[in-house]
Amino acid sequence: MKAIILLGAPGAGKGTLAEGVRKETDYQHVSTGDMLRVAVKAGTPTGLEAKSYMEKGELVPDDVILRIVGERLAEGRPEDKLMFDGFPRTLEQARQLDAVLEKAGAKVDQVFLLDVPTETIVSRLSGRRICKGCGAVYHVTNIPPKAEGVCDKCGGPLYQRPDDSEATVLNRLEVYQRQTASLIDFYEQKGILIHVNAGTTPQDATKEMLSKLA
Ligand code: AP5
Repeated sequence: MKAIILLGAPGAGKGTLAEGVRKETDYQHVSTGDMLRVAVKAGTPTGLEAKSYMEKGELVPDDVILRIVGERLAEGRPEDKLMFDGFPRTLEQARQLDAVLEKAGAKVDQVFLLDVPTETIVSRLSGRRICKGCGAVYHVTNIPPKAEGVCDKCGGPLYQRPDDSEATVLNRLEVYQRQTASLIDFYEQKGILIHVNAGTTPQDATKEMLSKLA
């Protein structure tokens, strides 16, 4: 099993970059945010537990996250290549991921840190729109759909994520600094941290990451 991580602030473009890389490689995109949103929509016990944290822009407790990631990893096959997006987000999650991968004879191979200025991040989040039908991600000015409010791919209606409101975005950025940014040092010390300039177009960021992928 191979495992890589996309690390970066909320709105840095992790999901967009992951989709670009997924299309060009055999990496599978594993997003804990997407997994949680599916659980919330389905009203599962995990979803009910996660909902209030997500609405406030707080991190969902480690035990919940480690359970859903553990279930995902248990479905994996030795030849799988996994690209984590939004996980790990705390040192505890990072240490537990190392332990689970070690049991499977694997390790975190590379960690890609998305470098983006804060003002770009705020404008990316406030302009993000998502398709209710297929989950495709747009931006009102950067990556607009052909017809306003309508998905190019499936014709579904576009909506704004509830946690993209201004107050919640500011809290998510603070939470990132407080609880997640220490992972930069954690992976730098292991010698596996790689910077990607994600302040450019999605195409250029994808090209840069593909050129650095081992
Ligand atoms: P999650 O869904 O992971 O949210 P996030 O980390 O806040 O990241 P986003 O999805 O908001 O942004 P992104 O970096 O993927 O950017 P995107 O590509 O969409 O988590 C949501 C919540 O779930 C958390 O707050 C927490 O409560 C919980 N959670 C999830 N994982 C957890 C964990 N491990 N532990 C605890 N809790 C957890 O891009 C943003 C916008 O910019 C889009 O409109 C896009 O079109 C545009 N854009 C992207 N790239 C570019 C570019 N290069 N140029 C121009 N525009 C761009």
